[in-house]
Amino acid sequence: MTPDDLKVKILGIVGTPIKDGNCQYYLEQALQVVESGGQATTEMIHLQDYRIEYCIGCEACLRRVHKVQKEVGFDVIPVPVKDYNCSIKDDMEIIHKKMLEADGILLAAPVYIATIPGQVKTFIDRCRTFVHDFRLRSKVAAPLTVAFYRNAGEDTALQMMALSLLALGLTQVSFGASAVSTKEGMGIPIRETRFAVKEDPVGMTLMNMAATQVAQTALQMKAGKLALEEAGVSVKTGGWAPPQ
Ligand SMILES: Cc1cc2nc3c(=O)[nH]c(=O)nc-3n(C[C@H](O)[C@H](O)[C@H](O)COP(=O)(O)O)c2cc1C
Repeated sequence: MTPDDLKVKILGIVGTPIKDGNCQYYLEQALQVVESGGQATTEMIHLQDYRIEYCIGCEACLRRVHKVQKEVGFDVIPVPVKDYNCSIKDDMEIIHKKMLEADGILLAAPVYIATIPGQVKTFIDRCRTFVHDFRLRSKVAAPLTVAFYRNAGEDTALQMMALSLLALGLTQVSFGASAVSTKEGMGIPIRETRFAVKEDPVGMTLMNMAATQVAQTALQMKAGKLALEEAGVSVKTGGWAPPQ
């Protein structure tokens, strides 16, 4: 294992209808923190740039996962399904590919009516294949959020994203971070600056901690995976299969 093997890629995903807003800025700052560690490269995608249809509940992804599991055995993890395992042909194909290539994911969304925007939920629903095929296992994640008021839905938004990332099989390494985009979280716009989250030292500190934890744990996770591969060690599942 060489230092060059130990580079990680962290994907930042921001979901808000607003381009170049506070939430995007917050994520960009987090990705800069990630890069400052020296061992990570980053990429940011904005869901607004992609055409993402609603999940139609067809369960084709699930059926394909089960079909492959019957062929290869239920102890094979991740399940070797084809790269894009969704029947809807839209830009989610590009996003799935980027998620699969990443070692870690930072998911950022603003608080909308005490939770996440529908756009982000739609994106999460379209990731259902990962719940069943375990292809995001051993990747790390943390959520970020921005709100107008202090304590006005930040925790709920973070928990929604955290639980969803866990459900998709990612390893949650931080509770996440939130910041406010108004003066001291009182709902008063700060006109002098375009990115008011900058003026929230608590939010910026929390973001710094979450981003560092994602970068560091992604690196440790990758080193661990490589070490296990080199040693020829793999964790068996016991091969339990659901009754047919
Ligand atoms: C539909 C809608 C609902 C919102 N709901 C909340 C809320 O429940 N709590 C809050 O503090 N801010 C709320 N906000 C404010 C946004 O969270 C805030 O303006 C944030 O900075 C938006 O980030 P962005 O500009 O990067 O999209 C809401 C904004 C919109 C448009």
